[in-house]
Amino acid sequence: MTEVMDTRLTPDESASDATWWRQAAVYQIYPRAFADANGDGLGDLPGITERVPYLRRLGVDAVWLSPFYPSALADGGYDVDDYRDVDPRLGTLEDFDALVAALHGAGIKLIVDLVPNHTSDRHPWFQEALASPKGSPARDRYIFRDGKGPDGAEPPADWPSTFGGPAWEPVGDGQWYMHHFATEQPDLNWKNPEVRADFLHTLRFWSDRGVDGFRVDVAHGLAKDLGDELPSQAELDAMPWDGNHPLWDRDEVHEIYAEWRGVFNSYDPPRTAVAEAWVAADRRARYASAEGLGQAFNFDLLEADFDAAQFREIITFNLELAASSGSSTTWVFSNHDVVRHATRYGLPPRRTADGEVREKQGKKWLLARGAAPALDRELGLRRARAASLLELALPGSSYLYQGEELGLHEVPDLPDEARQDPTFFRSPGVDVGRDGCRVPLPWTREGASFGFGSGPADLPQPDWFGDYAVEVQDGDPGSTLNLYRRALELRRELQTDEEMVWVETGRDDVLAFRRPNGWLNVTAFGDEPVDLPAGEVLLTSAPLEDGKLPGATTAWLRA
Ligand code: NOJ
Repeated sequence: MTEVMDTRLTPDESASDATWWRQAAVYQIYPRAFADANGDGLGDLPGITERVPYLRRLGVDAVWLSPFYPSALADGGYDVDDYRDVDPRLGTLEDFDALVAALHGAGIKLIVDLVPNHTSDRHPWFQEALASPKGSPARDRYIFRDGKGPDGAEPPADWPSTFGGPAWEPVGDGQWYMHHFATEQPDLNWKNPEVRADFLHTLRFWSDRGVDGFRVDVAHGLAKDLGDELPSQAELDAMPWDGNHPLWDRDEVHEIYAEWRGVFNSYDPPRTAVAEAWVAADRRARYASAEGLGQAFNFDLLEADFDAAQFREIITFNLELAASSGSSTTWVFSNHDVVRHATRYGLPPRRTADGEVREKQGKKWLLARGAAPALDRELGLRRARAASLLELALPGSSYLYQGEELGLHEVPDLPDEARQDPTFFRSPGVDVGRDGCRVPLPWTREGASFGFGSGPADLPQPDWFGDYAVEVQDGDPGSTLNLYRRALELRRELQTDEEMVWVETGRDDVLAFRRPNGWLNVTAFGDEPVDLPAGEVLLTSAPLEDGKLPGATTAWLRA
C-alpha cells in the first residue's frame, strides 16, 4: 500500500483538553472489517495499529472502535462474552495497549463501544443463570419470568424482538428470559446492584488503559420496570415514551449515567461518552447532559433525503437542542447499522411526494430481496460527497464510518450463505440485514482481499471494491479520499467556536451558512448550476463548471 508522508504535527496539547470531543471528527472502525494483520479473514487490532498512519493522514481526531471483545459474533460482536478482554481472534490486551499508544502517539483519541443492555448468552453470568434455579441471585442479573399456561410452555408475553421473532426464550424449566435483540443477547436487569457495580468496574478498566471515551449501545434501554403481570405488545404500543414506558427511555436510566459520570470525572481529562439513544428528539438532551453521558447521537440527517429543506430544518433544530443541554451535537450519515449514504442517495427518496416516510433507516424497501432498486451509483456518490463536505463544516462532532472516505457503496447482493446479520435470519430473509455495509475495506486494487489481509475476507468483497481501494485513490487529487483529507485538514485550520449562521440564498435548493474565520459553506441540492458568492474557493466536492457551483455539490469559501 502506498502511504503518503504525513507532515501534520501531533497535537500534544489535545491530551489534556477536556472539550476535545465537542467538535471532533470521529472515525468509526468496525474492527472485523478494517484490516486483517494475521490473514485469518477477520480484521484485528494489530491490523488497525498498522493503519494508524493512514488515520493520521486522513486527519481524524478520534476513533470509535465497535466491539472487539470475546464474542461468538451472533450480532457482530454486540453479544459480549467478557467486557474486559479482547477476542483472541482480534488480538490480546497487549495489542490493545499498543493500539492506544499508537493512536495517542498520532494525536488521535480512542472511544470504545460499551454494550450494557445485554450480555451474550456465553457470558459466565448467563451460564450461571441457566445452571441456577428459578428465583436464584444468578437469575436476578437477567430478566427471567415464568411462562404462561400449564408447565409454563407459553411465553410470558407476546413481544417481538427488535431483530424479528419473539423476545422471550424458554430455558426448559418453565422460565423464559427476555432479549430485546437476538436470542444470544439476554437483557440485563439494571435493578441488580451487582450489574451496576460490574459496569463501573468495566468503565474504570478501560479508562485506566487510556481509553478517552465510550459509545453507549442502546442507552435508552437499560432501565426497565416490569412487574409480574407483563403488558401485551398492543398495550406497550399504546404507551407513550414519556419517561414511564416499561421498556424504553425511562427517567431513572439517568441515575445510572449520573453514577457513570462520577467515574468519567475522576479522570483527567474526564472520559467522554456518547449515547446511542433512539428517542424522540425532545428527550435526547437528557442523555447529553453534563451530569450524564455528555453527548447523544442525532440520527436525523441519516434519516433525511438529500433535500435542502429537510437538511436546514434538522440542522437548525439540532443545534438549538444541543445548546439547551450545554452539549454539542453529532452528525452521522453512515454507520454499521444502515445502508451507506453513497447508496441511499442514489436511490429514490424515502419521502414520497406527499411527505410520507417509506421506511425507517432506508433499509428494507430499498434493498429488499427481489426488488431491483434503480440505483444511480454516480449520483449517489456525488451527493454523498456534497453532504459529507457540508457535514464537516457544521459545528459539533462528525461521526464518519469506515469506508465512507472512499465513497464506498453498500454491497446489496451478498450471497445468502455469506450473510451474518441476525436480522436476516430472524426476519427471516425478508430484511437483507446490515452485512452490506460491513464488507471489509479495500486497501489495494488487487490481492486476495484487496489488501485487507493476505487471504480472502470473512465477508466476500465484490470485484468492484478494487476500484475504490485506498491505493487507487491515494494519489488522485479528485478522489473521495483526498476530498476527506483536505476537508479534515481545513476544518482543523478554520474551526474555532461553535457559531453558525444561515446565509439566505434566495433559492429553495441551495443552503449556505457561515462559520467564524470567514468560512462559508454553500451546497447546491438541485440539478442546476448556481452562482457562488465572491470569495476564495477553498474546496469543492466536485469541480466548478464555468465558475458556477454545479448541482449536488458543496463548496467551501473564505468570504
Ligand atoms: C445497536 C448497535 O449499533 C447494533 O449494531 C446492535 O445490533 C444493537 N445495538 C444491539 O446491540
